[in-house]
Amino acid sequence: MTILVTGGAGFIGANYIMDWLRLTDECVVNVDKLTYAGNLESLESVFDDPRHIFVNGDILDAELMDSILQEHTPRAIINFAAESHVDRSIHAAGDFIQTNIVGTYTLLESALKFWNSSSVKEKESFRFLHVSTDEVYGSLGRNDAPFSETNQYKPNSPYSASKASSDHLVRAFYQTHGLPVLTTNCSNNYGPYQFPEKLIPLIIHNAISGEQLPIYGDGKQIRDWLYVLDHCSAIRTVLSKGALGEMYNIGGKNEMENISVVNVLCDILDALQPKTDGTSYRDQITFVEDRLGHDRRYAIDSTKIEKELGWNPSETFESGIQLTVQWYLENQTWVEHTTSGSYRNWIKKNYSTGATT
Ligand code: NAD
Ligand code: DAU
Repeated sequence: MTILVTGGAGFIGANYIMDWLRLTDECVVNVDKLTYAGNLESLESVFDDPRHIFVNGDILDAELMDSILQEHTPRAIINFAAESHVDRSIHAAGDFIQTNIVGTYTLLESALKFWNSSSVKEKESFRFLHVSTDEVYGSLGRNDAPFSETNQYKPNSPYSASKASSDHLVRAFYQTHGLPVLTTNCSNNYGPYQFPEKLIPLIIHNAISGEQLPIYGDGKQIRDWLYVLDHCSAIRTVLSKGALGEMYNIGGKNEMENISVVNVLCDILDALQPKTDGTSYRDQITFVEDRLGHDRRYAIDSTKIEKELGWNPSETFESGIQLTVQWYLENQTWVEHTTSGSYRNWIKKNYSTGATT
């Protein structure tokens, strides 16, 4: 049995693949374009595993996706591939429109063609799982109820608008063609292998590099943080038990203001790697200009996945953030290669004969 993962060299996709190979004996075909966010060094531990088949490819390439589906006949596609950083979508949205909307559409067309050509038995068991975000629901006021699956889509950034658009296409392929789809809408993830442009790894990196810790606006924006391996377990749960055509919200019940997250990070670093001059990392906190259109609050009501599918997160924010800070401190080579850009040469350095197909 084989699954096809797109965007598997990114933060969540890489964690998902490593977890999958640890927990199952199924093969994973990993199609990744290797944009700036794709980092094969994250997959070093499974790169020689024959069950991990890496293809350096673009989900916009219909011919390639068709041929991969024909060759590997996966029982499921899990679509992680995306442009994922809100700030980048504010500066230039073109790649977000291409990958997140046109790319998802292209992948849906290939999946439909493949599914239509499958046997009755294969058709029944096939799944297209689309990994989406809570940002599609827009922003909440402090006293609003958390997002549930019935909330209206009100995306505010070019990133969230492109994800909302892809979610609609996924839904349409189910309603129109009967393609067996599932959609997950998850809150903010954190954990190992996250690109240090995102809040948590950026703060850890800047703190120990002696740089400023930038807080956008007043720092009172609220996010609901989930440890990445809990997101991976939720995706596996939806893949195996989710009802066709349904959306599942995934969250950690860990709503926190950004400033509190940064204070927690500083306190953990003060304990694990105290500064030699005796001052706190909190002294490096700097309030900077706010993000344009900055969503004030996200919060997830995950009753549906908990009650209907029996999923619950394993980590609290306290346990997950401790593991995360420790991981970054112990994996400074990965961080250094990522921030310097040398991770992009990893494949050439480690596989002179070329390991990608
Ligand atoms: P990421 O930016 O770390 O990784 C994205 C991966 O997709 C990279 O490896 C990149 O090379 C690849 N990619 C980009 N364009 C591609 C294309 N055209 N073809 C093939 N591969 C391509 O992102 P992430 O944080 O791992 O997020 C993965 C998915 O989860 C995204 O769809 C994102 O919207 C969603 N999501 C993320 C979070 C979060 O907190 N990070 C939360 C909820 C949902
Ligand atoms: O909610 C899920 C989303 O979470 C995912 O869909 C996105 O792919 C993912 O990037 C993330 O989006 P955010 O914009 O919430 O994450 P980010 O880490 O960029 O920012 C988290 C919060 O911290 C946000 O309110 C902006 C703020 N921030 C961020 C950075 C990078 C700062 O205050 N300073 C910073 O330097």
